[in-house]
Amino acid sequence: MRQTSQHGQWTSRFAFILAATGSAVGLGNIWKFPYIAGENGGGAFVLIYLVCILAIGLPIMIAEIMLGRRGRQSPINSMRDLAVEAGASRFWSWLGWLGVVAGFLILSYYSVIAGWAMAYVVRVASGVFEGVTADGVSNIFGQLIADPEKLLAWHSLFMIVTMLVVARGVKGLERTVKFLMPALLAILILLVGYAMEQDAFEQGVLFLFQADFSKVTSEAVLTAMGHAFFTLSLGMGAIMVYGSYLPRKVSIGSTAVMIALADTVVALLAGLAIFPIVFANGLEPGSGPGLIFQTLPIAFGHMAYGSIFGTLFFILLVFAAWSSSISLIEPAVAWLVENKRMSRMRACIWVGLATWGLGIGTVLSFNLTADIKLFDKTFFDILDYLTANIMLPLGGFSIAIFAGWVMSKENSASELQIKSPILFNGWLFLVKFVSPIAVAVVFLNAIDVI
Ligand code: TRP
Repeated sequence: MRQTSQHGQWTSRFAFILAATGSAVGLGNIWKFPYIAGENGGGAFVLIYLVCILAIGLPIMIAEIMLGRRGRQSPINSMRDLAVEAGASRFWSWLGWLGVVAGFLILSYYSVIAGWAMAYVVRVASGVFEGVTADGVSNIFGQLIADPEKLLAWHSLFMIVTMLVVARGVKGLERTVKFLMPALLAILILLVGYAMEQDAFEQGVLFLFQADFSKVTSEAVLTAMGHAFFTLSLGMGAIMVYGSYLPRKVSIGSTAVMIALADTVVALLAGLAIFPIVFANGLEPGSGPGLIFQTLPIAFGHMAYGSIFGTLFFILLVFAAWSSSISLIEPAVAWLVENKRMSRMRACIWVGLATWGLGIGTVLSFNLTADIKLFDKTFFDILDYLTANIMLPLGGFSIAIFAGWVMSKENSASELQIKSPILFNGWLFLVKFVSPIAVAVVFLNAIDVI
């Protein structure tokens, strides 16, 4: 097996943790988690999500990093070589292809939402939210998403900055995330502090943590599981490709635990900051993708130095999205460089353009084409459902099957270097049985097969 990747390597374990945490922590934690928790009734959904992180997400994350480091190439080529090594069919490379397509689809809409966050930097900084009411914020948000030209401009800008980092390769990725995570965490804690002063704090906490299973549908369980994949960046090769740049000596298990933990803490803090504000202002928890854009500005509009903190918050959110978006497109770029002998720059231009083009569909789905629906879903909803609820679980399922059943135990043990046999066997049991069965049951249940 290869010792290093042709694309380079992380300089340290810490650099990998930062990059992988940078990939995991993003819009999924701060934008998506609160609104889907809100739409699915809160507590019980949150609990199911946490169980999915532990029983499905964490073991699959370990598997994905392991496959990446052993393959040392883009997911497509890594999967092919690892399958050959295990005496299985070369067609396992389809898993890499699934990931490339999923990453492309996700980034196309991720970039549009990141564009909203960029637009908010300017709005908060200009002071429009000072002393604002809930209605006022909703109006400002409504005006933004009703304007396709503005959304397109921000989406274009976000795609450009994403591709600029990817074009610089592994080194570029590393530098971007170093100072970001601590700062983001600090402002989130500040926001939770504001939320704690609200009378509705307790109501918010109860909404988030009091589990009422009577409201849980099979569809909600699928959404919770899909989000566990989404938020940990699993199931499409992003973490695999990052793993391929990981130095040999680094212990994969403990590293994955840290990444998953950091990701979960950020999501829960975001929820704790947002729901008290929702209830204090008579807003709807189930109001959809606009939720954080219609709640957090209220907090910033009423706290001391709110415009400054608010500006900083949205800047950090953009950065968090940025360090995630680069991982969504890295598998495709790495493959083009490996197989089509393209320079990194050219590869970035082509995938960047294609992703940008598809993103226009999402831009329009919030305004001009908002009424065009298939199965009651807009273009954005369809992309989101198809990727998070179908493609990522399918990818994760296949990764678990490959790591647990196809790859030999000797090889996975030698790659993971987990010293305690109990922990290693525990991991193996999870990827062999628990994760794949859980994914299959949830999935089949949601599409009404069982
Ligand atoms: N995890 C990121 C978030 O929560 C998004 C993301 C980055 C992602 N890379 C991914 C999602 C790969 C799925 C697969 O915002």
